[in-house]
Amino acid sequence: MTTRIVPSVLPADFSRLGEEVRLLEKAGVDRIQWDVMDGRFVPNLTMGPDVIASVRPLVTLPFEAHLMVADPDRLLPRWLDAGCGMVIVHAEAAGHLHRTLGDIRERGGSAGVALNPATPASAVEHVLDLVDLVLVMTVNPGFGGQRYLPSMAAKIRRVRELVDATGRDIEVEVDGGISPDTIGSASAAGARTFCAGSALFADRDAIGERVAELRRLAA
Ligand code: DX5
Repeated sequence: MTTRIVPSVLPADFSRLGEEVRLLEKAGVDRIQWDVMDGRFVPNLTMGPDVIASVRPLVTLPFEAHLMVADPDRLLPRWLDAGCGMVIVHAEAAGHLHRTLGDIRERGGSAGVALNPATPASAVEHVLDLVDLVLVMTVNPGFGGQRYLPSMAAKIRRVRELVDATGRDIEVEVDGGISPDTIGSASAAGARTFCAGSALFADRDAIGERVAELRRLAA
């Protein structure tokens, strides 16, 4: 199974976002995650689709939008139009998760479903035919730099079991507190895609080495 390192741009310097995204591309990451927050579903407020669209032409890397928003249907087409090939919605936010995931796919996107720490893996059981990715949050969403929740290992394992039982190539991604100290346990539990923010931006001069280190530790 392919290991993917997906940086979150949350810790990036937003005064020079284009340079930061180019730096990530040069560092050899697989995709970029845009942490979209609306100040309702999570306390924090970040970027809209226009910010993503402005950066889109600068790199060829795939983009994923992680929608930490109370109403993911409202701007759905805008994330795809902005250049996010993957749109991830929270099971807890989507009033009609099955319909929203189908809508992403009908509009030509890849669909992901995210689970907050308290949400059981069973929440995705009836939508696995509609998803390309399951995102297991290993922190409570809203801010970068939080501590990884080791208690999520059992849920990652359960999601891995459910995904493998489909026989389809559905990514299992983890997000929150992923670092050289925690990626091994997330990988051992069955994750293959790793979203990291603060661990990668800690030293911009060595970001390529950090990506390579995470990839090695995840193998
Ligand atoms: C939480 C965010 C963070 C971010 C990664 O809402 O989704 O998890 O992507 O941040 P770090 O890697 O600093 O925990």
